[in-house]
Amino acid sequence: MSSEPRSTQDLIGRADVNDVDAILAITNTDVDEVRHAVEVNSDAIFTWDYDRTRAALSKLYEKAKTSQWNANDLPWDTPVNQAEVAQANRLQNDAIFQGFDLTGTPVESWGEDEWVRHSIESQNWTLSQFLHGEQGALICTAQIVETVPWIDAKYYAATQVVDEARHVEVFARYLDTKLSGHYPINAHLKMLLDDIIADSRWDMTYLGMQIMVEGLALAAFVFLHQMTTEPLLKQLLRYVMSDEARHVAFGVVSLQEFYSQLTAAEIRERQEFAFEAAVRMRDRFLQQEVWERLGVDVHEMIHVTMNAPDRPIFQAMLFSKIVPNCKKLGLLDAADGWLRDRFTELGVIQFEDWVDTGAEYENLDEVAKDRQVA
Ligand SMILES: [Fe+2]
Ligand SMILES: [Fe+2]
Repeated sequence: MSSEPRSTQDLIGRADVNDVDAILAITNTDVDEVRHAVEVNSDAIFTWDYDRTRAALSKLYEKAKTSQWNANDLPWDTPVNQAEVAQANRLQNDAIFQGFDLTGTPVESWGEDEWVRHSIESQNWTLSQFLHGEQGALICTAQIVETVPWIDAKYYAATQVVDEARHVEVFARYLDTKLSGHYPINAHLKMLLDDIIADSRWDMTYLGMQIMVEGLALAAFVFLHQMTTEPLLKQLLRYVMSDEARHVAFGVVSLQEFYSQLTAAEIRERQEFAFEAAVRMRDRFLQQEVWERLGVDVHEMIHVTMNAPDRPIFQAMLFSKIVPNCKKLGLLDAADGWLRDRFTELGVIQFEDWVDTGAEYENLDEVAKDRQVA
C-alpha cells in the first residue's frame, strides 16, 4: 500500500467531517425492505489446536457462562406511560436545546406538547437503532466464531452470540410492548455494519464491532441508564450493560495480542477503519429521521443541532470508551498520531486517559451482584 494515509475524502466520501449536506445526502432509500443481504468474504477457520493458552479469554468465557440472564425475568408487567416518561426525562435531562435561542428556527413556535412528542419520537428512534445495532452484533459475533483462529476466542464468542440474541429480544420486546413506533435502520449505521460484515479480515470484525460499535453502545447505555426514570428500562439497560462490558473487553484483549504482530502499514489500515467507524457513528446520532417524521425541515434542524451548546458534550461522551480503548491498542499514536489528529478534529480526544474497558466488566457484573443479594 502507499506510504501516505488515505484522505478524509477517500475514507468517508467527503473532505469535511462536518459537511451537513453530505451527511444528509446519505439516507435509507429502502425503508420498506424486509431482508438485507451482505456478501461475506471471509473464510471459516477450523483450528486443530485445542490448547487453552489464552488465560484472559478463558477468564472472560468463565465469567460469561455464570453471568447469563433470562429476558423473561425482567419486570415486563411494569406499566409505561411514554408521554409521562418523556416529560419527566425532559425536565431532568433533555438539555440539548434548553437555554438555546431557537428564534428563526423551524421549532421556534414549539410548546411543551411538541417537545414531548419530539422526546417520544426520539426515544422510539434511539431504541430502534439500538435494536438494529444489536442484530449487527449478533451477526458479527457469529461471524467471529467462524473466522477467529483461536479456540479460546471461539468459545467466548459463542457466549456472546447468546448475549446478543437476548439483547435483540429485549429491545424488540420493549419497543413492541412499551413504546409507540419503530424506525428503520439509520443509513449511516447500516453502511458501517455492512462494511464490518463484508471485511474479509477477522480482526476488522472485532475492531468495527467490539471496539467501535459496542464501545459506543456501552457509553450510551451507561448514560441512558443514569438518565431514565423508567424502572423497566433501567433494569434492562443495567443487564445489557454488564454483557456489553464483557464484549468490549473481548475486543481489547484479542486485538492487543493480534496487533502486536502487525506491520506499520497494517496498523495504519486499522487506524483508518477506526476513523471511518467513528464518523459513521457520530453521523447516525444526528437523528435526521426524527425531524423528518415530525415534519420539520431536516437540513435546518441538523444545522441547529450541530450548533446546540450541549451537543458537543453529549456527542463526545459517546466516545468515552472508544478513545481509551484505541489508545490501549496503540491505534492513537501509530503513524505519527494520525488517529489522534482525527479524534482531535472530531472533538473527542479528551477521553484518551479515561479508564479503558479491558477489565471494567468485573465491576459491571450486575447479574452476579443481584445473585449475591438474593
Ligand atoms: Fe449487545
Ligand atoms: Fe454486545
